[in-house]
Amino acid sequence: MKYGFIGLGNMAGAIIAGMAACGKFKNDYLYGFNRSQGKTLALKEKHGLIPCASAAEVAEKADVIILAVKPQVLPEVMPEIVKGVTKDKTVISIAAGKSTGWYEERLAKGVPVVRCMPNINAKVKASVTAICGGKGATADDIKIADGIFASVGKIYHIEEKMFPAFGALGGASGAFVLLYIDALAEAGVRAGFSRPMAEEIATATVMGSSALAMDSDEHPIALMNRVCSPGGTTVEGVCKLKELGFETAVQQALQAIIDKDFFLEAN
Ligand SMILES: NC(=O)c1ccc[n+]([C@@H]2O[C@H](COP(=O)([O-])OP(=O)(O)OC[C@H]3O[C@@H](n4cnc5c(N)ncnc54)[C@H](OP(=O)(O)O)[C@@H]3O)[C@@H](O)[C@H]2O)c1
Repeated sequence: MKYGFIGLGNMAGAIIAGMAACGKFKNDYLYGFNRSQGKTLALKEKHGLIPCASAAEVAEKADVIILAVKPQVLPEVMPEIVKGVTKDKTVISIAAGKSTGWYEERLAKGVPVVRCMPNINAKVKASVTAICGGKGATADDIKIADGIFASVGKIYHIEEKMFPAFGALGGASGAFVLLYIDALAEAGVRAGFSRPMAEEIATATVMGSSALAMDSDEHPIALMNRVCSPGGTTVEGVCKLKELGFETAVQQALQAIIDKDFFLEAN
């Protein structure tokens, strides 16, 4: 199979690295085109990517075309690829906020489109990726996307109407976690640790608690209650966070992301 990437930035780079590392694509070819050349050459060097001279060349050569440019660049890319993308190919897009219908309107009738929403944790093979097919996508097209994104983390088949919520819960919320790590680290500095040490301890603790929650069948709150000894110190901190509106703040922040996504899709 020939996979062709249009746009070789952060996300495409992470996906290509995941595909190369997982060993399942050894007999396949990876093609790519990027506006600036440096990233293309680096991926050629590192993962054997075959550079193309244009998006049109990727579309012509590849069986699976992965659109990994920013959403605002897509209107200029689509006319370039339309000729090369025939019905026997699969188009996979990772662009935020662009529906399968948007591509179907611009491609030849019947071209299968699969919409995917990974996250930047793909860089460490810990992405969560939502996948859904458009009108012309078959089970085989979905399977192709499954194979690609399973190489960088977990995959979820969801209805397209759930993409804005998934983008918030499974993507943007990563920024909340990073903000939380920074807040913890700052508190650690106030308590007397050096900044690098506080950041490392905070990050490792978040990672450990995530691993524990992932590994356990118990509800996160049940796990939390285990470390809140009666009359102890931890419960004081948990109650303070609740008193300051921690849960409400997180939930309202997530909803703000979903609302903005709907606004952007409608405008
Ligand atoms: N980053 C995330 O966390 C994330 C998560 C999920 C989905 N996404 C989606 O993934 C897509 C890519 O995001 P990203 O973070 O990887 O962005 P990025 O790092 O900016 O990569 C986009 C790449 O597209 C290239 N490009 C621009 N115009 C082009 C054109 N006409 N033809 C070919 N290549 C072109 C850019 O080249 P230059 O080197 O010249 O700039 C850049 O390398 C976006 O649609 C985004 O919505 C991103």
